[in-house]
Amino acid sequence: MAKIPAGGACAVSRLPVMKAYASDVALSELDADLVAVGLFEGDLLTEPLGSTPGAKDASADFKSSVTVFPGKPERVVVVGLGAKEDFTAERARVAGAVAHSALKKVKGEALGWILPEAGDNGPDAQAVAAALVEGAAFASFSFDRFKSGSDGEEAAPELKAVEISSAADISEAVRIGEVVGNAGNRARYLQSLPANVATPEYLAGRAKEIADGFDSVGVDVLDRKGIIAAGMGGLEAVAKGGEDVEPRLITLKYTGRGSGEKLGLVGKSVTFDTGGISIKPSAGMHEMKMDMSGGAAVLEAVAAVAELGLEIDLIAVLPSTENVPSGTALKPGDIITQLNGKTVEVTNTDAEGRLILADALVHCARQGADRMVDLATLTGAVLIGLGSTYAALISNDDELAKEVTAAGEVSGELVWRLPLHDEYKELTKGDISDLVNASAQRKAGTIYAASFLEEFTEGKPWAHLDIAGTAWDTGREYWGKGPTGFGVHLLVALSRDLAGS
Ligand code: BES
Ligand code: MN
Ligand code: ZN
Repeated sequence: MAKIPAGGACAVSRLPVMKAYASDVALSELDADLVAVGLFEGDLLTEPLGSTPGAKDASADFKSSVTVFPGKPERVVVVGLGAKEDFTAERARVAGAVAHSALKKVKGEALGWILPEAGDNGPDAQAVAAALVEGAAFASFSFDRFKSGSDGEEAAPELKAVEISSAADISEAVRIGEVVGNAGNRARYLQSLPANVATPEYLAGRAKEIADGFDSVGVDVLDRKGIIAAGMGGLEAVAKGGEDVEPRLITLKYTGRGSGEKLGLVGKSVTFDTGGISIKPSAGMHEMKMDMSGGAAVLEAVAAVAELGLEIDLIAVLPSTENVPSGTALKPGDIITQLNGKTVEVTNTDAEGRLILADALVHCARQGADRMVDLATLTGAVLIGLGSTYAALISNDDELAKEVTAAGEVSGELVWRLPLHDEYKELTKGDISDLVNASAQRKAGTIYAASFLEEFTEGKPWAHLDIAGTAWDTGREYWGKGPTGFGVHLLVALSRDLAGS
């Protein structure tokens, strides 16, 4: 432990990665510690696998697994896939996680798959192949950096390689699965880091690493002085409580096309949310280190898009600060002026996300974004409404909402649209200022926050994703407890869709 001191420089680019390969070899030729084959209901195992001792115990029940020892290859795990007509890419992602857990049991680090054939009405071979890789990659995530004896950011990966064999051309899909799997896990790593390591400065360091890694990515970082000089009154106000942890406004630009649409991405990056003077109860407060999950997803999505070289332009903005109480902190009742000149009475300092996102959205639009998507762990209310299965989507534009919803379906990072309405907007209006950041009436908290943000979209098509329920502890098979990296895959899927690839 403590090899990398708290607050040390970011070295996420040195994190271990999983490699994925496509091939078209026979089962007996797959060279892996464990080879997985899927079994649909009503299907029989192919010979000679079917006559291997123990193969009779194999089940087609979805998520089941039975490991047998045919000799060549040494070990095969039969993963139950359920009924063929129920099979989806999401089920393949889960099957990838089931195979990984069998691999872990035999302490293996290389996984093989014979690509299951989903049939004409099922998902295509490419979608299944990518999902198998993603599921295994996500399931292999662990966060051991602070255990004694760990090698810090350069520790060996638990899953080194996945090889998928199919007669279909799946090489591009396997590559996408690899990039998405590794990027999602990097975001999860950032989410897991405690607030005394993953500071705004650290996140800016990660942004610089990404820019250093790709000619197509540039970065610009404002410190507290720059934030104040720029007129970002929301970010300035939230950051006032932190004396030694300095805020950052991070802007990353990815140029994959250079003409055509520029997609803006904004990620809430509160590296710790105590609530500020409107302080939160202490039970569970430690989890508020994950209040930068939107920013983590945006950062690693940009890195993934750059790695894939997608033909699209991105303008990514991360407003980053702690939200802590102190003698210099923002107080309830203070009135601030946001970047676009609108004034806000801060009735609750725990509704800080919307204050920093407001400035970031205005900044993103002014940097040239044609449309914007923001990701934020914004409200506890979304957990009550949608739990951990869907993120809330709120948008002022049907076309963009449709595209984001479709990207959610492709990625398994599901979103459910909630409405905007003038009556909600009324609640956000101030008596002595243009807006209030929180209402005493606890009505429609998730929509309230989005209605507030809409005031800062500069007339651009915009989609807001409230990921407070989906960023952490979903319990989904391939994510388990803890961080999910929710949004990385969705943003890559959206970017692929917009790039037409
Ligand atoms: N970061 C929290 C929201 C949150 C809650 C994230 C649970 C992850 C899990 C946000 O800044 C917040 O405190 N929101 C308040 C808003 C309220 C004061 C209007 C909330 O939801 O209680
Ligand atoms: Mn808060
Ligand atoms: Zn917060």
